[in-house]
Amino acid sequence: MRIVVLVSGTGSNLQAVLDAVRDGQLDVEIAAVGSDRPGTYGVERAADAGYPTFVVNFRDYPARADWNRALTREVASYAPDLVLSSGFMRIVDEEFINSFNGRYLNTHPALLPSFPGAHGVRDALAYGVKITGCTVHWADAGVDTGPILAQAAVEVLDGDTEETLHERIKVQERRLLLETLDRLSREGL
Ligand code: GRF
Repeated sequence: MRIVVLVSGTGSNLQAVLDAVRDGQLDVEIAAVGSDRPGTYGVERAADAGYPTFVVNFRDYPARADWNRALTREVASYAPDLVLSSGFMRIVDEEFINSFNGRYLNTHPALLPSFPGAHGVRDALAYGVKITGCTVHWADAGVDTGPILAQAAVEVLDGDTEETLHERIKVQERRLLLETLDRLSREGL
């Protein structure tokens, strides 16, 4: 199973994938790692591990559709079976998703369909829920929508901040992501 990973930030989920592949615990081929902005730590981690990287900078394109087309072309050039959004903070359009037969996997730090969007952890905390968690799902062109593959619950503790809660969620998110990728690689997409 060939994958392209898209990141916008620090890429700690990506690092878990890189480590699992290196240690022979996950049988996927990382074709490339790309970002929507220059200078991400995620891309740096991938380059350090020796993988091809690319940036399709959102700010370089006059319209979202142009950026989408450029991203689609770049990702398609690596012929992935699956594209993984690992903290990729941009919405892609249907053309992108159809180009990869809908095999666009996303992780989200909340129990979807609750708290979609860029601030899932902050929003759950502000609402006052006692249980939140993370979701791995096939992403469609909506905001954190699409068929759910796996979820894990995380308790909200008294005194949690967005940062402390997100760190505990990310532990589960990494586990769930690795389990899901492993299952997909063994059982087929
Ligand atoms: C993850 O919690 C992801 O679900 C969210 O942002 C975080 C990305 O973290 N959208 P990292 O870049 O993998 O460290």
